[in-house]
Amino acid sequence: AAQSLLQSLLPPTLDESDPSLLRAASFVFITAIHSICPEASSLGIETKAFKCKDIKHGDYQCNAAMAMFQKLKATGSLPPGVNSPVDMAKAIAAAIPTENPILDNLTVNGPGFIMARFKSSYLSKWVNSLLTNGAPSRPKLSKPSGTVVVDFSSPNIAKEMHVGHLRSTIIGESVCRILEYMGNDVKRINHVGDWGTQFGMLIQYLKEEYPDLHGDIPNITDLTEFYKNAKQRFDESAEFKKVSQLNVVQLQAGDAEYLKMWQVLCDVSRKEFEKVYKRLDITVEECGESFYNDKIPPVIEEFSAKGLISVEDGGAKCVFVPKYKVPLMLQKSDGGYGYDSTDMAAIKYRVEEIKASQVVYITDFTQGDHFQMVFAAARKIGWVTEDSHRLDHIGFGTVQGEDGKRFKTRSGDTVRLVDLLDEAVSRMEASLKERSNIPEEEIHATACAMGYGAVKYFDLRRNPTSNYIFSYDRMLDTKGNTAIYLLYAHARLESIITKGKAEGVDVDSLLKEGKAKIMLEHKSERNLGLHLQIFADAIEETLSDLYPYHICDFVYALSIAASEFVTQCKVLGSPEMESRLLLCRAAAIVMRQCFDLLGIRHVMRI
Ligand code: ARG
Repeated sequence: AAQSLLQSLLPPTLDESDPSLLRAASFVFITAIHSICPEASSLGIETKAFKCKDIKHGDYQCNAAMAMFQKLKATGSLPPGVNSPVDMAKAIAAAIPTENPILDNLTVNGPGFIMARFKSSYLSKWVNSLLTNGAPSRPKLSKPSGTVVVDFSSPNIAKEMHVGHLRSTIIGESVCRILEYMGNDVKRINHVGDWGTQFGMLIQYLKEEYPDLHGDIPNITDLTEFYKNAKQRFDESAEFKKVSQLNVVQLQAGDAEYLKMWQVLCDVSRKEFEKVYKRLDITVEECGESFYNDKIPPVIEEFSAKGLISVEDGGAKCVFVPKYKVPLMLQKSDGGYGYDSTDMAAIKYRVEEIKASQVVYITDFTQGDHFQMVFAAARKIGWVTEDSHRLDHIGFGTVQGEDGKRFKTRSGDTVRLVDLLDEAVSRMEASLKERSNIPEEEIHATACAMGYGAVKYFDLRRNPTSNYIFSYDRMLDTKGNTAIYLLYAHARLESIITKGKAEGVDVDSLLKEGKAKIMLEHKSERNLGLHLQIFADAIEETLSDLYPYHICDFVYALSIAASEFVTQCKVLGSPEMESRLLLCRAAAIVMRQCFDLLGIRHVMRI
């Protein structure tokens, strides 16, 4: 304690290579506070800076004056002349030396907020290094990177992949990219539902309908139909039901013939899933429920050896965890294993065999309790601890049709994802043919980038917990917060760069020769420089809750700043042409980095 008290009395330091604006601003404020009151941090006053809500008033702000005034008043140690929180704020602002390299334009607002702007010279230093490196600087994290399992997409075999799985797929891909970007070793896992009791009836139906499996393999559009038919037989015929249940036993016991039929069904489904993944540039490795089949019995033994199992009346083996009335069921009364059993075996495998220090699950929100219980049980048995492991469940809301109901086709069927994606592309194709003059042979690829990008962005840009209404018109809108708007904004920057080249300023050779040097003089130039540098804080924010919408908010604000810059400042043919073209390039680089983290393909011209 004495050590940490001493530490808090020392003036703060700044790591020059840390790109975080938040920490840079905090450093300036804390240094000033410290010079007035060295014990401020030990008094528990929040001294860190915040990004201003409204850019009109400032870039970043310090809110410490109010609390500091109260504390110092209470201890009778107010500095002379300080009679109000506003006086306190003024005193802090006055303690910031004008020659500090980071902040200027300090003003005191309202009850004692200190607002500040970043110096152009500070921002341009970072933009220049961005150009030299060809990439923005990554945030410096205190926590080291490690192995992270991301369990996402995870559709069920023989059932059509639905929009819920699409959400998991889109969010999961982005989460993986963000974690990989920060240097983590990410295991992308597709926990497909390939081992449920549905296989009993599916195998039975397969046997009856397709006696010659080699010659005639059903395709997935039939497989949904197939599932429905099998289910109907199952519900109607007691005889069918009985054999189906026996089939499950045979299959789970590893009978070769049954495994072969199971494999056929899985392969057919897999082909359809692949189509979706290929269209959307998704990388995910299948490791489905069946993989854990033989890992379940030892898990049950372990729980029981530690005395953590309660046996219910019917014989089911359960584990109770704090705060939940219903238990996790590790083994059903008929001896079978279910969803809970598999997830317990999976979490053990992930932390103990894969050595993951973080596991992220991405499913619809209704599974929230299930995962909280799985996490609690893993802690209870000691596989994970709060300190050494991070376990997250990202639970997302439902996708609704324009009528506000669950998303369906007009005929009331679930929408085939491939059709849904194809529709976005064909609408985009039609619109490009109408108003773009890109060469014919580029149209399809451009429409794919934009159409798929639009579907993804429409999902990613919101808090996943919210429901959303699926609307092609809104996601394909050229104005507003859509991928289409962003891709246009990016292409516009590249088009200015191309024109600059025609006028004799080649940004790429400037960069190659190491001659890149930008200046941020005009208000919109400085504002764009600021937005470019916010990138690091946006990434850090995303890592805290794993919600990619922070990156969407960031790239949207950035593209507004970039558009404003090219509208307010003459680029081509101006005396500042070189610096301004470079600034366009810097903005394009950061935008592409964001697109990449969101899983959106960029295009250089539209
Ligand atoms: N197959 C499940 C579903 O469609 C999702 C699986 C999520 N992952 C897990 N480890 N339980 O709802």
